[in-house]
Amino acid sequence: MESLDAVSSEIIGAIAIADSLDVLEAIRIDALGKKGRISLMMRELGGMNAEDRRVAGQTLNKVKDDIANAIAAKQKILAAAVLNERLEAERLDVSLPSRPETDARLHPLSRTIEEVIAIFGEMGFQVAEGPDIESDYYNFTALNIPPEHPARQEHDTFYLPVDAEGRRKVLRTHTSPVQIRTMESNDPPIRIIVPGRTYRSDHDATHSPMFHQCEGLVIGDGIHMGHLKGCLIDFCRAFFGVDDLPVRFRPSYFPFTEPSAEVDIGCTRQNGALKIGAGDDWLEILGSGMVNPRVLENCGYDPEKYQGFAFGMGIERIAMLKYGIPDLRTFYDSDLRWMRHYGFLPFDAPSIHAGLSGGGV
Ligand code: DAH
Repeated sequence: MESLDAVSSEIIGAIAIADSLDVLEAIRIDALGKKGRISLMMRELGGMNAEDRRVAGQTLNKVKDDIANAIAAKQKILAAAVLNERLEAERLDVSLPSRPETDARLHPLSRTIEEVIAIFGEMGFQVAEGPDIESDYYNFTALNIPPEHPARQEHDTFYLPVDAEGRRKVLRTHTSPVQIRTMESNDPPIRIIVPGRTYRSDHDATHSPMFHQCEGLVIGDGIHMGHLKGCLIDFCRAFFGVDDLPVRFRPSYFPFTEPSAEVDIGCTRQNGALKIGAGDDWLEILGSGMVNPRVLENCGYDPEKYQGFAFGMGIERIAMLKYGIPDLRTFYDSDLRWMRHYGFLPFDAPSIHAGLSGGGV
């Protein structure tokens, strides 16, 4: 047997100078592991006579305990050092100023839709929705646009592939199909607006293949053109924030209304700059009319009993006019510099976020 004292002091010495948990573990295995030096000595006890074994066993056990204790004590010291090192490295300076965060902005389209909802909401309208992928029936036929009707060509429709029943669905070309869906599942009186996405195969500075419209529909007993005019004049004046804004109703044609009128607002153009308000020029901003009796019949309503009016406007168009945004394509560029310039702080009144009564509407 090696001199136990020498082995023991060598190991204890190594423990004392171990400078990492890994080194310490290596020492432990070398001494107390299965094939460690102390373990091997323990094994040699088997070959001794009883008396020698008792004496040597006691000594060996004490050495073993001493080494184990020394390792445990050193382990604590090294673990504390590791922890301290980490705490030192990961120290947070809570006195540093926070990083500057830019305020989020509301997209002008979201803001415009909110304003439109806020204004019509105060007049008692509710918001209705419908699917972007529409059947030919809701997008055209029920709105008195039969298959051979020339208005179909004007819509530059996106058609989906023919389905199993041989029908081609469309990306809705306007929000008007929601008029039909609402009348089919509700009884009068009806007073809805329908802000939503619409699609046409068209792309230039004033057209985008995806754009937004807001439809309006009022159905009731004794609704007449005076209601249409009053409602839309009030809307235009509230939306553009001009109390005496001139509003003109110009005869027009839509298959789903009879009579139909396009609505223009007064403006002036000086040196290329557009000013909305009194002036000698007009700007078209929406389409409208009295709901065609054929459309009422298509929805199972008796046109002798119920009348109504409808209107539809392009959200991009009214947003561009109100906020002086020159190019429609920029709405969809996701350019943060553009958003910082044209966007809105969410809590600016009036907005749905700020509460409807919060603003000047
Ligand atoms: N659907 C029409 C379009 O997309 C807009 C429109 C005009 C809607 C007159 C109406 C309306 O409800 O009465 O051009």
